[in-house]
Amino acid sequence: MGNFKFQNLSLAVLVAIFAFLASSVLVANNTNSDGFFTLPSLITDFKELVTDRLERLASQFHDLSIPSIIHRSHKKKRPTDGGGGGPKPKPASICDDFPPDIPPPDTNTTTTICVDRNGCCNFTTVQAAIDAVPNMSPKRSIIWINSGIYYEKVVVPRTKPNITFQGQGYTSTAIAWNDTAFSAHGTFYSASVQVFSDRFVANGISFMNVAPIPGPGDVGAQAVAIRVSGDQAVFSSCGFFGAQDTLHDDRGRHLYRDCYIQGSIDFIFGNARSLYQNCQLISMATPVGPGVRSINGAVTAHGRASKDENTGFAFVNCSLGGTGRIWLGRAWRPFSRVVFANTAMADIVAPEGWNDFNDPARDQTIFYGEYNCSGAGANLSLRAPYVQKLNDTLAAPFLDMSFIDADQWLT
Ligand SMILES: *[C@@H]1O[C@H](CO)[C@@H](O)[C@H](O)[C@H]1NC(C)=O
Ligand SMILES: *[C@@H]1O[C@H](CO)[C@@H](O)[C@H](O)[C@H]1NC(C)=O
Ligand SMILES: *[C@@H]1O[C@H](CO)[C@@H](O)[C@H](O)[C@H]1NC(C)=O
Ligand SMILES: *[C@@H]1O[C@H](CO)[C@@H](O)[C@H](O)[C@H]1NC(C)=O
Ligand SMILES: *[C@@H]1O[C@H](CO)[C@@H](O)[C@H](O)[C@H]1NC(C)=O
Ligand SMILES: *[C@@H]1O[C@H](CO)[C@@H](O)[C@H](O)[C@H]1NC(C)=O
Ligand SMILES: *[C@@H]1O[C@H](CO)[C@@H](O)[C@H](O)[C@H]1NC(C)=O
Ligand SMILES: *[C@@H]1O[C@H](CO)[C@@H](O)[C@H](O)[C@H]1NC(C)=O
Repeated sequence: MGNFKFQNLSLAVLVAIFAFLASSVLVANNTNSDGFFTLPSLITDFKELVTDRLERLASQFHDLSIPSIIHRSHKKKRPTDGGGGGPKPKPASICDDFPPDIPPPDTNTTTTICVDRNGCCNFTTVQAAIDAVPNMSPKRSIIWINSGIYYEKVVVPRTKPNITFQGQGYTSTAIAWNDTAFSAHGTFYSASVQVFSDRFVANGISFMNVAPIPGPGDVGAQAVAIRVSGDQAVFSSCGFFGAQDTLHDDRGRHLYRDCYIQGSIDFIFGNARSLYQNCQLISMATPVGPGVRSINGAVTAHGRASKDENTGFAFVNCSLGGTGRIWLGRAWRPFSRVVFANTAMADIVAPEGWNDFNDPARDQTIFYGEYNCSGAGANLSLRAPYVQKLNDTLAAPFLDMSFIDADQWLT
């Protein structure tokens, strides 16, 4: 009974996500005369919907008695024609549709364990699976995560490198929590998922922080979806959902490809060296009227603090859309470095483009570049004077995998 209620609720959450994603796809296809997508008003509704659903989910969670580890048998008894004693009627089980080949057997280089909300596989929570991975395991540990929202706060410790999260698509599998800077005693600790280990990989999964969207002037409402603090991380076809400070791209060299990243203020921040390739960046800052000049969002806040740090964010072949009136970046630290290349920008970008954190001294040391971008938001004619209109030579180091030394670690 508990299981049944739980399932219905999970489904409701997924339906909410699907409704949202479907709407964003519709919006993306709903191009204006510039060929860029127009304002997705449903994006703000989404958070309320999911928060509401997750609150109900959390309140029911304690009724459930799902064992934390279930060793599942792969052998399914099927009725056989003309068999000896006649088949017993098989009770319908929630696990009947669970794929029989999961988890696959270990190989010489990988070992796979699986997570399923309904208890049809090794673990019911992502954290329990991580806890079961041995420290410094010589093999890559693949954690296969079934569809559903995993409402938990997750830590991948430094002692567990080479972990892969394999979801069922970022519209189907998600990890969500709702800490804020206030509740977690600091923005850095608010992340729903914190990754401290090297060579972390995530495929087809979403990371969400579903804390309430901060209102104007709210203090301590920053709410990180994921903190990425290990070196050599790769995110493919992943979703990142939050408002202020969604993606804490903290330290190390990272690749994000074909990802969907949504937020409002500084929604990609940190001091990593990262290539964002073919990603959709969606601002969910409050929609503003045509004449409004005030700024209410920023895509990036890169934290490079000195000229000796080889860090920066490069966005290549991405698209930027959504709502609000936003900067491409704010100079969180004096040597902040961000480049946008070959990126289509909707007309939500303020004409000056960037912000020096209201510290003119930083104009000499920040590196904010744009190269071959397109769309109404990419008009360079009124950009702040320190913005670099990069030519081919100056743009080249930011345009491909060499930016993150991929030849040393990505094969
Ligand atoms: C997170 O959600 C739970 C369940 O609704 C709620 O009790 C808690 O106050 C929320 N935390 C924050 C920081 O909003
Ligand atoms: C996971 O489940 C499979 C299939 O039941 C089993 O062979 C394996 O030992 C389990 N692994 C762990 C770590 O529990
Ligand atoms: C895996 O290891 C076994 C035993 O060491 C070896 O015989 C086999 O060739 C290896 N397989 C691969 C694909 O490397
Ligand atoms: C993790 O994988 C890398 C690259 O495959 C390998 O060099 C390293 O030894 C692995 N780490 C551990 C702790 O096994
Ligand atoms: C510049 O952007 C256009 C798309 O707007 C693309 O077709 C072209 O390949 C880009 N040029 C370079 C040199 O990357
Ligand atoms: C860029 O902005 C300037 C100043 O607003 C405007 O005059 C110009 O027409 C714009 N260029 C394009 C291609 O829209
Ligand atoms: C690019 O700009 C730099 C700095 O202004 C200049 O030195 C270089 O010659 C330019 N390269 C090309 C190909 O225009
Ligand atoms: C960006 O797109 C261009 C044109 O399709 C392609 O040549 C280039 O390899 C892409 N770069 C990255 C980093 O994806």
